[in-house]
Amino acid sequence: MSTHGLIPPHGGKLVDLIVNDARRAALKDAAAKLPHVKLPEREQCDLELLAVGAMSPLTRFMTDADFHGVCDSMKLASGLPWTVPITCSVDKATADRIELGSSVALTDEKDRVLAIMVVEEKYVHDKKKECERVYKTTDAAHPGVAVTMSQGDVCLSGPLEVLTSRHEPDWTQYRLTPAQTRAEFQKRGWRTVVAFQTRNPIHRAHEYITKCALEICDGLMVHPLVGQTQKGDIPADVRMKCYEALLKNYYSHKNCMLAVWPAAMRYAGPMEAIIHALVRKNYGVTHFIVGRDHAGVGSYYGTYDAQKLFDEFDPAAIGITPLKFENSFWCRKAGSMATDKTTFSTPEDRVSLSGTAVREMLAKGQRPPVEFTRPEIADILIESMKAGG
Ligand code: ADX
Repeated sequence: MSTHGLIPPHGGKLVDLIVNDARRAALKDAAAKLPHVKLPEREQCDLELLAVGAMSPLTRFMTDADFHGVCDSMKLASGLPWTVPITCSVDKATADRIELGSSVALTDEKDRVLAIMVVEEKYVHDKKKECERVYKTTDAAHPGVAVTMSQGDVCLSGPLEVLTSRHEPDWTQYRLTPAQTRAEFQKRGWRTVVAFQTRNPIHRAHEYITKCALEICDGLMVHPLVGQTQKGDIPADVRMKCYEALLKNYYSHKNCMLAVWPAAMRYAGPMEAIIHALVRKNYGVTHFIVGRDHAGVGSYYGTYDAQKLFDEFDPAAIGITPLKFENSFWCRKAGSMATDKTTFSTPEDRVSLSGTAVREMLAKGQRPPVEFTRPEIADILIESMKAGG
């Protein structure tokens, strides 16, 4: 199907690294004789995104020039905006055994081959710089910093041929590639589409901002992140039940769709918000929701820092339009969802609950108030807590 008229991908061309069946068979045989490099979870997630073109224009794990361009000036070597390094790293001893120009097989945790890389570059993984520039902290308690610091000291880069983006993928019905979401938007006749990134069950504040956004766009794609998250976040399989229930009961089926985003969460706040938006452009999305403390964790980032970072870029270079939302809550006085922008209310007028308070209520089998979360969602969360989730 032609995707003429849709927003162009970042860099202009949608990347596709998946080989055809004949090539797959040949590479599978060849892989048996190659050194195997086992990718940790974050890198497996990144490989899948590279393979299907979600990371366009990237066609490989980052080169040294891209890595430093991103850390120093939020740009790829080509000059295009990019804010988070996408690296494949190994320990020094492994790197020393790999000759430049030779091939390695990238595998999952069960040693199943995912891709073949021709190693054209090996460079020092400046993890401290990555943490300082991207996460704005080197605190080991930051979950994104912890994953980065656990990565190898040498990065490998070179052309990739991907045999399969994931063995035994979950949610195949929702695991749409950028080419597939683009085709779906065309089929539905959506010229403007807003994407909603989330790593949480959808509560009333999320519902409110997605529906406000939908008022000015043709379609909404709820696009939850289902790759690696930190311990303590609600598991993706529980969240998927919540999203299905919510969309079934409270959203227009004509104007909304659900698809999963198989990315790893970095918790890098503002820097991650930019990537979240750029990548969604590759999926054919024109507008992207950025609310309060987007992709944040703990108190590392200011409430609206992610929104402010978009202002440092030329909007034309970003291409996708951020839709910025203030902290939303149920206002008893107004009898509706609201923000400081739309109501005059005192803190006592607001229904707002901390994450800890909500978890405690759910653990006791109590539903949080309907002003905070829909009953169907509360029931799924209570059920999962009972089951030890
Ligand atoms: S995130 O890591 O994916 O950003 P979360 O799932 O909590 O976490 O948030 C999804 C989106 O909703 C983000 O854009 C976030 O800023 C926004 N958001 C979450 N809660 C609120 C709220 N109460 N008011 C406004 N925006 C919110």
